[in-house]
Amino acid sequence: MGTLSLHRLVLSLLLVFLSHSTTTTTAQPPFPPSFKCTTTTTCTALVGYKPSNSTTLATIQSLFQIKTYSSLLGVNNFPNTTPPNQVVSSNQTVRIPFPCRCNGGKGLSNKVPQYTVVKDDWLSTIATQKFGGLVTYQQIQAVNNIPNPNLILVNQTLWIPLPCSCDDVDGKSVVHYGHVVAQRSSVDSIADEFGTTSQTLMSLNGITDPKKLLAGQVLDVPLKVCSSSINSSSLDYPLLVANNSYALTANNCVMCKCHPTNNFTLQCQPSGSKSNKWATCPALQCSGDMLLGNSTNISSCSRSTCSYTGYTNQTILTNLVQENTCPAPASERNGASKINLRGYRSLAFGLLFIQLLILLQIFM
Ligand SMILES: *[C@@H]1O[C@H](CO)[C@@H](O)[C@H](O)[C@H]1NC(C)=O
Ligand SMILES: *[C@@H]1O[C@H](CO)[C@@H](O)[C@H](O)[C@H]1NC(C)=O
Ligand SMILES: *[C@@H]1O[C@H](CO)[C@@H](O)[C@H](O)[C@H]1NC(C)=O
Ligand SMILES: *[C@@H]1O[C@H](CO)[C@@H](O)[C@H](O)[C@H]1NC(C)=O
Ligand SMILES: *[C@@H]1O[C@H](CO)[C@@H](O)[C@H](O)[C@H]1NC(C)=O
Ligand SMILES: *[C@@H]1O[C@H](CO)[C@@H](O)[C@H](O)[C@H]1NC(C)=O
Ligand SMILES: *[C@@H]1O[C@H](CO)[C@@H](O)[C@H](O)[C@H]1NC(C)=O
Ligand SMILES: *[C@@H]1O[C@H](CO)[C@@H](O)[C@H](O)[C@H]1NC(C)=O
Ligand SMILES: *[C@@H]1O[C@H](CO)[C@@H](O)[C@H](O)[C@H]1NC(C)=O
Repeated sequence: MGTLSLHRLVLSLLLVFLSHSTTTTTAQPPFPPSFKCTTTTTCTALVGYKPSNSTTLATIQSLFQIKTYSSLLGVNNFPNTTPPNQVVSSNQTVRIPFPCRCNGGKGLSNKVPQYTVVKDDWLSTIATQKFGGLVTYQQIQAVNNIPNPNLILVNQTLWIPLPCSCDDVDGKSVVHYGHVVAQRSSVDSIADEFGTTSQTLMSLNGITDPKKLLAGQVLDVPLKVCSSSINSSSLDYPLLVANNSYALTANNCVMCKCHPTNNFTLQCQPSGSKSNKWATCPALQCSGDMLLGNSTNISSCSRSTCSYTGYTNQTILTNLVQENTCPAPASERNGASKINLRGYRSLAFGLLFIQLLILLQIFM
């Protein structure tokens, strides 16, 4: 074997190693975002929108026709005092809540948003610039029955079909999030960012080879939700609040937040806001004088919390719920072993790299 060909071999091995886990190309159609959705219900889903120019929360709310401003704040965990003219710069990603409907095995935003064509619009610029690459122009063309994609009219309204799902993942309720893959990210880095695993992402998105992940591709990412004690006959059942976000419910009277520090149990308390339906918010109290969200310690490992259990036409339901507050040993151990495995894998790649460098030295 000549030095030159060995050199080439080592170089190509290095290139394989370097490209092992990062995206190198930009997705082009055909990569129409399409999420599997076999449930027959509707639900709330999310997409991550990166505006191509700096804009405001109010403009985003109106572009995506988000029903309530508080839901936009809640899914992004923005303080409830954030003003609508808050600037969103083009390097920021904002989570957009929208109603999802499953049909024929796939999920699409339920007839929203409706976009009104303005002068100088093209289907392709609407898809890639106005809506941040969350859809392709072919998908807009298809759902709106447009025969010629180069022929759209000013003031024509178009349904922008956002990808979504309502399915459980690994037997658990989740909130599905449509994530546009950025340059130089990988299945592993995306899994880390959103608190899921590479295996889950790959099976959910039908990815067999993580090296084939393309920038611009829209991935279905399942977000963990908090468990709750909400009654199945409650009008907001099943209230799915994703990790690190909050939601107003019970006609705006109750604010529920989901955070890892509370063992992913939904924490609800009076919102302090005015009701959008009732003249005044009903008393939010459990038996005795405990208010919604208040806790008392029963023993060193358990406490009793006045929890939100739902609402009806007339009233808000609460119940004293006992919670275990000591660390769960089993899940802790799982977490630790996962980190170790990841460590071993990068160690293995490091060793491979060193071996290649030694080979280079020996033969040259
Ligand atoms: C973004 O800004 C540039 C220049 O200010 C403008 O030409 C372009 O049309 C804008 N894009 C969108 C989607 O508004
Ligand atoms: C985002 O862009 C703004 C200006 O548009 C800049 O001030 C800010 O530092 C940028 N943030 C990041 C994380 O790049
Ligand atoms: C579009 O709608 C606006 C307001 O309804 C109207 O003023 C305008 O003339 C319309 N433009 C075209 C090209 O139809
Ligand atoms: C929860 O959210 C935080 C912050 O966004 C993130 O760091 C963490 O990985 C998430 N955990 C899970 C299990 O989703
Ligand atoms: C749920 O609510 C219904 C009616 O409001 C009630 O009959 C039922 O007992 C509740 N179930 C639980 C588990 O609290
Ligand atoms: C009980 O809940 C109310 C309403 O959220 C709150 O203002 C108060 O501080 C809580 N009291 C205790 C002791 O946690
Ligand atoms: C209840 O127990 C937690 C620790 O589990 C402690 O941090 C908290 O201060 C206790 N609260 C009261 C009111 O004793
Ligand atoms: C709400 O209450 C009214 C009467 O107060 C009743 O007629 C109506 O059916 C109720 N709606 C629901 C969804 O329960
Ligand atoms: C955390 O929540 C899970 C179910 O949501 C429960 O099985 C577990 O016991 C809880 N652990 C602690 C420490 O509260």
